[in-house]
Amino acid sequence: MEYTPTLPPTLQNVLDQDTLKWIFCGGKGGVGKTTTSCSLAILLAQVRESVLLISTDPAHNLSDAFGQKFSKDATKVNGFDNLYAMEIDPTGSLQEMMDNSSQDQGMMGSMVQDLAFTIPGVDEAMGFAEIMKHVKSMQYSVIVFDTAPTGHTLRFLSFPSVLEKALGKISALGGRIGPMISQFSSMMGGQAGMQEDLFGKLESMREVISEVNTQFKDPEKTTFVCVCISEFLSLYETERLIQELTTYEIDTHNIVINQLLFPKKESNCEHCRVRTAMQQKYLNEAYELYDEYFHIVKLPLLTEEVRGPERLKSFSKMLVEPYKPTN
Ligand SMILES: Nc1ncnc2c1ncn2[C@@H]1O[C@H](COP(=O)(O)OP(=O)(O)OP(=O)(O)O)[C@@H](O)[C@H]1O
Ligand SMILES: [Mg+2]
Repeated sequence: MEYTPTLPPTLQNVLDQDTLKWIFCGGKGGVGKTTTSCSLAILLAQVRESVLLISTDPAHNLSDAFGQKFSKDATKVNGFDNLYAMEIDPTGSLQEMMDNSSQDQGMMGSMVQDLAFTIPGVDEAMGFAEIMKHVKSMQYSVIVFDTAPTGHTLRFLSFPSVLEKALGKISALGGRIGPMISQFSSMMGGQAGMQEDLFGKLESMREVISEVNTQFKDPEKTTFVCVCISEFLSLYETERLIQELTTYEIDTHNIVINQLLFPKKESNCEHCRVRTAMQQKYLNEAYELYDEYFHIVKLPLLTEEVRGPERLKSFSKMLVEPYKPTN
């Protein structure tokens, strides 16, 4: 009953594809996204010049996984020469950006700004753009994303249109009240041109985002590794994720099925037997659905958490050498 997969059941293909620049790991909560992305980043660090691991999950767990405090600035991971990590908060960076803004924009300026930012998602889109601009300027060979649980994962794909709307709104506003603003602000002794300033800022962010999105849609540059466990809800969500990725034209051809049980033959644990049977059932379904196009990587449920660089290192080996139960 051992299934013979069509494609090699490892992530070796990801390591071999040296054109890859962006690798996403995503799936339902708690299935092993962080463990997989950290392990994959460790492997990539062995074959690529430099690797940046980014967590976009506000619940930041890279620090927990490596047992090292990371921040929004890329920090070298202890025990590695060319592996860096950063934890970013996709929301809330707008305020910071505004605070850093060199110009005092005055009352009318902030009014225009407020109006532009009433468009849902602009805040997040700007935050994302700012991050990507920064990341792109850093010249890492490859960037691995540990994404937030599914649902928010692909939000960034709608950002170009969000920013376009914001730009549209500002230019419409500019046409109507622009002259009044400049008159008013010079009257009040404020600087003119803050609207152009904001417009320029949004426009440059839009450029960054659409450029990044173009790269995300290029299978030479970007791939998405789906992580799941062998249960109904997780597989169901994986299928939804794959459909969504397909709609957005983002490449995906690897599925990691984590936390599988391999009870010993002589085990008389009823609980293990029942759960193993359930996992086998969904595993078979996964093979039926995805075998032809996906590398399906099976990972065992270990008795211990996968924390700290050493455990992650040994866990990462199972991404390239299929796990063989001891009996
Ligand atoms: N195969 C495994 N065997 C044992 N423990 C595991 C395994 N995979 C993951 N874990 C542990 O399970 C917990 C959850 O894993 P992880 O943090 O990688 O999941 P996640 O998908 O990132 O979760 P979240 O959605 O909360 O971010 C961690 O404590 C991790 O060490
Ligand atoms: Mg996580």
